[in-house]
Amino acid sequence: METKLIKISEDNFSATIKQAGRILKNGGLVAFPTETVYGLGGDALDKEASKKIYAAKGRPSDNPLIVHIADFSDIYAITKDMDERAKKLSDAFWPGPLTMILNKSERVPYETTGGLDTVAVRMPDNGTALALIKAAGGYIAAPSANTSGRPSPTRAERVYEDLNGKIPMILDGGAVGIGIESTIIDLSGDEPLILRPGYITPEMLKEVIGDVKFDPALTEAKGDAAPKAPGMKYRHYAPKAQLILVRGDQKKVTEKIVSLIDEAHADGKKVGILCATESQSDYKAEIVESLGKRGDEEEIARNLFEKLREFDEKEVDIIYSECFEETGLGVAVMNRMIKAAGHQILDI
Ligand code: TXA
Ligand code: MG
Repeated sequence: METKLIKISEDNFSATIKQAGRILKNGGLVAFPTETVYGLGGDALDKEASKKIYAAKGRPSDNPLIVHIADFSDIYAITKDMDERAKKLSDAFWPGPLTMILNKSERVPYETTGGLDTVAVRMPDNGTALALIKAAGGYIAAPSANTSGRPSPTRAERVYEDLNGKIPMILDGGAVGIGIESTIIDLSGDEPLILRPGYITPEMLKEVIGDVKFDPALTEAKGDAAPKAPGMKYRHYAPKAQLILVRGDQKKVTEKIVSLIDEAHADGKKVGILCATESQSDYKAEIVESLGKRGDEEEIARNLFEKLREFDEKEVDIIYSECFEETGLGVAVMNRMIKAAGHQILDI
């Protein structure tokens, strides 16, 4: 299949959206930008389209998809038992990087929800995404537009890298603003639970609906509890080379990484380093990538997946990384980094 990569501009916007909407209405797939990461879209109410999404990504079919909507009122057709909390959260954060898990209505096929009786819903904050959802009939199921297991794409070229030949169209809206996937909050039970940390922090959620907790599986050691978001159990975001995080007092971390570089070089290995701008000049390795200034969580989040993909291109044998503060958006950054490292952390 030929994959068209179309750069969205003011001139081609409405014609392109019309064309892409037609593909979706006919059961095909279109990748598109959102404010978080690029999504791989199909009609959420068409089970055959959902099956195509799993096939194109190589994704296990028990890992449910997020349904993207463009109008709040459209939520009623795909959910049951909508509650006040969901309304308040959507008023506060939609369109935006928050996904809510609610009980699903019969209109949503089990192929879209990975066999679950709940459905994940979000309204993305991106003009192209919103126009496309409307053109497609209101409901687009879209996981991140990467091959399953790879870092999520933050630029259209990365989508092309993974999905060229597998889908008919990719809409290029440039680099995304946030760079990590939406916060997921489960509202299907009595207690709201954060299943995946993201740009919308627990503090921000608390201001709107009161106390919220993290899914215990997010904070407990690897393997102790099954995560409630099926996707969180898979190895994910991972570069091809082994990634090892070094955590602790910054001076000691730098010393440790410097000695690890020496050891790897003695073994003839090509080394990649991921660090803050402040310590970039401390390391002498084949590739030393800075994610941003320490404390600039937004920049670090925006760069993370792209930098992980750059290591793949440069074919390093091993990657050592500094860790970042786990406050605010830093919680989401470290959640992705720990998963990308397959939980390999050296605490010093
Ligand atoms: O920012 C985002 O959310 C991006 C953009 C494209 O919107 N999408 C995204 O989708 O990250 P995906 O498929 O890569 O991640 C969806 C996550 C998975 O971990 C999945 O298991 C979880 O959401 N999920 C979806 N439906 C669920 C449900 N009904 N119950 C629990 N977890 C669910
Ligand atoms: Mg994903």
